[in-house]
Amino acid sequence: MSLQAPSFVRHQQLINWVAEVAALTKPAAIHWVDGSEAENSQLLAQMVAAGTLTPLNPAKRPDSYAAFSDPSDVARVEDRTYVCSARREDAGPNNNWMDPAEMRSTLNGLFDGCMAGRTLYVIPFSMGPLGSPIAHVGIELTDSPYVVASMRIMTRMGRNVYEVLGEDGPFVPCVHSVGAPLAAGQADKPWPCNPDTKYIVHYPETREIWSYGSGYGGNALLGKKCFALRIASTMGRDQGWLAEHMLILGVENPQGDKRYVAAAFPSACGKTNFAMLIPPKTYDGWKVTTVGDDIAWIKPAADGQLYAINPENGYFGVAPGTSVKSNPNAMAMLNEGVIFTNVALTDDGDVWWEGMSKDIPAHLTDWQGKDWTPDCGRKAAHPNARFTVPAAKCPSLDPAWNDPAGVPISAFIFGGRRSSTVPLVFEAGSWEDGVYMAATMGSETTAAAFGAQGVTRRDPFAMLPFCGYHMGDYFQHWLGMADKVSKLPRIFCVNWFRTDADGKFIWPGFGDNMRVLEWIVGRVQGTAQAEDSPLGKVPAYAHLNWAGMDGFTEQHFQQLMVLDEAAWRHELAAHDEWFAKLADALPASLAARRSKLAEALGV
Ligand code: GTP
Ligand code: SPV
Ligand code: MN
Repeated sequence: MSLQAPSFVRHQQLINWVAEVAALTKPAAIHWVDGSEAENSQLLAQMVAAGTLTPLNPAKRPDSYAAFSDPSDVARVEDRTYVCSARREDAGPNNNWMDPAEMRSTLNGLFDGCMAGRTLYVIPFSMGPLGSPIAHVGIELTDSPYVVASMRIMTRMGRNVYEVLGEDGPFVPCVHSVGAPLAAGQADKPWPCNPDTKYIVHYPETREIWSYGSGYGGNALLGKKCFALRIASTMGRDQGWLAEHMLILGVENPQGDKRYVAAAFPSACGKTNFAMLIPPKTYDGWKVTTVGDDIAWIKPAADGQLYAINPENGYFGVAPGTSVKSNPNAMAMLNEGVIFTNVALTDDGDVWWEGMSKDIPAHLTDWQGKDWTPDCGRKAAHPNARFTVPAAKCPSLDPAWNDPAGVPISAFIFGGRRSSTVPLVFEAGSWEDGVYMAATMGSETTAAAFGAQGVTRRDPFAMLPFCGYHMGDYFQHWLGMADKVSKLPRIFCVNWFRTDADGKFIWPGFGDNMRVLEWIVGRVQGTAQAEDSPLGKVPAYAHLNWAGMDGFTEQHFQQLMVLDEAAWRHELAAHDEWFAKLADALPASLAARRSKLAEALGV
């Protein structure tokens, strides 16, 4: 095995680090990824030969592939995710913690020889536009060609990153292994991983990421949740900015007044859909444009506003539920050049998933390679099946999406999945009230990630699995933005998911979310009316635009807005329980806000 770095790598510390990791993991070869088209084609062909990728029918979906993971490796593993800060209290009760020295010794054992028989790929990538003052560089070492192909879509990856790095530029070192060494002559699996042992580990002080045992999504594409959220959130805390689990969209009214908003919804709660929203037909002259669908890096600028960039370069979107009806922009991106993971295959070599079409195919091959028929009682696609596509293909892409300066944020929107209690929309009375609402946000769990379905868990700021430090300190960091930013965005809360007595969604959602977005932007512009409520400002029925929304009555609206006393008593008790867990670092003003809210609600 050659340790020789190619001439385009001039960073000695990086070269030394690669040699060190190679000495530990003992790969059969090292491949310094350059990001070229030729290299990508070669990797894709190699994965087809290995059975990792199934090429789709080129007449149906050119240049597209389906990957099928091991059934034990289908989503992020939150219980295997660690933040190993030097002190336990810095990781907070929201993170699993282990002493860094102890973790290093555990991982040294696991990584010893873990890449045997495999190639170690060195992936240079930039989160954010290359060379932008707000971008940060990472280097991921991985033994998964699937990760290389995915990182090429999801990040700015390739040899130009080395030009930015130069001889001594800073980078976040990320080490990833599927944790499945190959003995001499041992045949590989289409989706190698370690079904028994997984570790997703962050060392915030030294800004390092080590991931073992999984090849899926946020476990393995380390630029995404590990770097752009967990590590970046600690960088933001130290440097005065925010790394958030937020989509960013632009909305322009017919008069040409354009605003940007950033919205935090938990995983699988509609960020991609909202980011690519197509307004109802009656919204002539309105435009909604997409800057990002999952992550926002947000920094105060000299003009007193917060500016946001999307550090990613692609979308890793939930496939089930995506259709020409629910998200036409996403469907348009999926025509060619896509990597699908854990979707079902049609008999003519195309993809299908639950909710993709009204017509359900009579026969499919499901994500586990089994025969599937509509009456078989199983899902054809895994609920967390995903598509990976370049952002540049998005029909609603915002012209400023690549702007290194970012876009100015006028409003923050927070929304969980709540079948009751939380109204369709309200505006927080102040920055502090808004932070309280985001800090206590709850969401009902879905099958996409883990655990029982329909259980409400607190997912503050949609960041519970992604905040790299103590949640209480994070709330304080948000509160502190009020001192750093003179033109603070307004804060709104939404809930698309309230259900009726039959368990059906009352709000049609998707494109009709435009009606709520119009009101939000109108509040920012000073044109939308509102009335008082215990939670803040809310629209009355007459304050929203209902044109073209037949069959949705004022009664339906009231059903979405009603504040139920018993439900809120229960809700505040859940806030108390949640805050009690954070007591050692909970900002006093949030506890005070809780009392005022109880008083306003009369509970
Ligand atoms: P991550 O990529 O996991 O962070 O999630 P995301 O927030 O981007 O999730 P995505 O947009 O893919 O959400 C997928 C789920 O939300 C699907 O089940 C959709 O049907 C559902 N969804 C999205 N928007 C709406 C809406 O307005 N109303 C309802 N009822 N469901 C929605
Ligand atoms: C999420 O779970 O919020 C995702 C998917 O965006 S993953 O990248 O796998 O974390
Ligand atoms: Mn996400």
